[in-house]
Amino acid sequence: MAKPRYYFTGESQKADLDFANLGFDYIRCPYRFEAVCEHGVWRVRGLLEDSAMNLPEGSQCLHYGQQLFEGMKVYTGADGKAYAFRPYDNARRMAEGARYLKGPEVPEELFVRGVEEAAAANLPFIPPHGSGASLYLRPFYLGVDDNVGVKPARRYIFRVFVTPVGPYFKGGFGPDQGKSFMVTSFDRAAPRGTGHVKAGGNYASSFHPCFEAKKKGFDEALYLDPAEHKYIDEIGAANFLALKGDTLITPDSHSVLPSLTRMSLLEIASQLLGWSTEERQIPLEELDEVDATACCGTAAILTWIRRIVDGDREWTFEFDDRWQQLHDSLVGIQTGAADDPFGWRHEIPLD
Ligand code: PLP
Ligand code: COI
Repeated sequence: MAKPRYYFTGESQKADLDFANLGFDYIRCPYRFEAVCEHGVWRVRGLLEDSAMNLPEGSQCLHYGQQLFEGMKVYTGADGKAYAFRPYDNARRMAEGARYLKGPEVPEELFVRGVEEAAAANLPFIPPHGSGASLYLRPFYLGVDDNVGVKPARRYIFRVFVTPVGPYFKGGFGPDQGKSFMVTSFDRAAPRGTGHVKAGGNYASSFHPCFEAKKKGFDEALYLDPAEHKYIDEIGAANFLALKGDTLITPDSHSVLPSLTRMSLLEIASQLLGWSTEERQIPLEELDEVDATACCGTAAILTWIRRIVDGDREWTFEFDDRWQQLHDSLVGIQTGAADDPFGWRHEIPLD
């Protein structure tokens, strides 16, 4: 379709939304990008206006969970340009998932084209610089077929929709915004299952534990390793971090999603801030010895944890100024407010 054209009714070139007070909710935007793979060949359908999808009833994504998704953000920089954060790394993670689910990979160039086109087509919905909000992108991948057997599909859809969002955990980041998590006895992924890829089934398994945690007044569930229930794994939608002495520690586990935010924070910590970092198993008991805890992800950004409860055991933590340093360094790079020595920002072509 032709390049989208917008005509504005007021002075602002942005949609009439209260960007500074958005939650993490879906707002339907005008365009989404789609490509289809048949016979091993991806064909671009381009920008579509309809948010609804017409899928064969036997589709593997509907019955057997042959589905993947990514979460990414695009920000308006101080220079007015739009920037995505590390889109090639999201593309690589989706490709890893596709290999595991036995479908064709979405080529990196196609993935990034989808990100660029979906963001640019919805330009009035990319929150302004300084609003604290961002455009959340949801690239996803579906196995679709006329089928009933338990086997991979012959046809695939790759789609990217967008929605402007505010903080994932209500209140966002700040010294008075510590969150509280309940250690759950349930698992979101099996020890050698799909925890390391972003498959939708992992999230279906998290509904029950998350519901239980929220019913008891917690912000989310905290998962232990599914093999021994001894080591900290992650939160439902974010990786775990702790500060122990002068070291930033984070779990090493096959059932944890390899978070791009975590990788970025580890690099910022070691290369920009000069901290020591460790990726290793963290026994739950080690919470007795750590100074501060947090979790991180695209949606969660960096969220510090005030309280962790496991049955009748409870750990409480104070805000640590180092979280502020880490948070500001990351967000500075993402939003174009700071230099990007790692080359993580990807400019979205707007014309
Ligand atoms: N862990 C889980 C289970 C997630 O859903 C997410 C979100 O994508 C993360 C961690 C954080 O990953 P990333 O930083 O790549 O968004
Ligand atoms: C993200 O951080 O992008 C996620 O995918 C988390 C989510 C399930 C909302």
